[in-house]
Amino acid sequence: MKLKLTGLTKSFEGHGVLDNITAGFGPVRSLVFIGPSGGGKSTLLRIIAGLEVPESGSVELDGEPIEFGKGEKALQSYRRRLGVVFQAFNLFPHLSALKNITLPLEKVHGLSPADARECAIQTLTRFQLAEHAHKKPGALSGGQKQRVAIARAITIKPRLLLFDEPTSALDPEMTAEVLDVIEELKDDGRDFILVTHEMGFARRVADDVAFLANGHILEHGPAAELFAAPRTAACRDFLARVMH
Ligand SMILES: Nc1ncnc2c1ncn2[C@@H]1O[C@H](COP(=O)(O)OP(=O)(O)O)[C@@H](O)[C@H]1O
Ligand SMILES: [Mg+2]
Repeated sequence: MKLKLTGLTKSFEGHGVLDNITAGFGPVRSLVFIGPSGGGKSTLLRIIAGLEVPESGSVELDGEPIEFGKGEKALQSYRRRLGVVFQAFNLFPHLSALKNITLPLEKVHGLSPADARECAIQTLTRFQLAEHAHKKPGALSGGQKQRVAIARAITIKPRLLLFDEPTSALDPEMTAEVLDVIEELKDDGRDFILVTHEMGFARRVADDVAFLANGHILEHGPAAELFAAPRTAACRDFLARVMH
């Protein structure tokens, strides 16, 4: 993927969250945003996901601008081609794992019920979730729920996957099973943007890393370089804090 942010600005109720961000990434497979809480990572990811509209500035994905100014319809069709996974699973609680995956395939992507079911079973099987297909989210562990959410995101064959702290609600063992799945997706050659506090994982899967704090991207570059030798004091301090 290639991502270009130009003069991107966003505030909530007069409080600046993203402050005139300009940065270019890629082509890369995986881009990871790191930085302190409240720095604007989720807001930036939600803008890239077409879920939030910036006040000013633009975002280009693979050379195409996201059409923020052209109404909800244009944004909807953009969003349809993305797979998004949030911290809090966002599964429908009253539907089985299988139904959670087939519903968007049928309603948003126009697959027949039989085709949707076949695609869903394929992905669930691949993630060792086939035996849980008929369980509702309440009967699944946190790690299983998040793997269902990831299965749902990839079953639509998205051009890009977006993950916002997909493991922050999980205990260490379940974190590992979810990170393994994301790493497999990387090995499959899928493009993704990930926000995470798991620095060891970030270092392992990121091609490029961006350090975001106080609404600014203070530095970005190849993961190997940024983690080995951060250039800004803020990023050095942050890494020292989170990596002990
Ligand atoms: N919908 C919203 N309404 C008001 N303030 C928000 C909203 N979303 C985010 N913020 C504020 O924007 C700032 C950045 O938040 P966020 O993008 O979630 O940062 P991060 O993901 O890096 O922790 C925070 O101060 C947060 O309180
Ligand atoms: Mg966040």
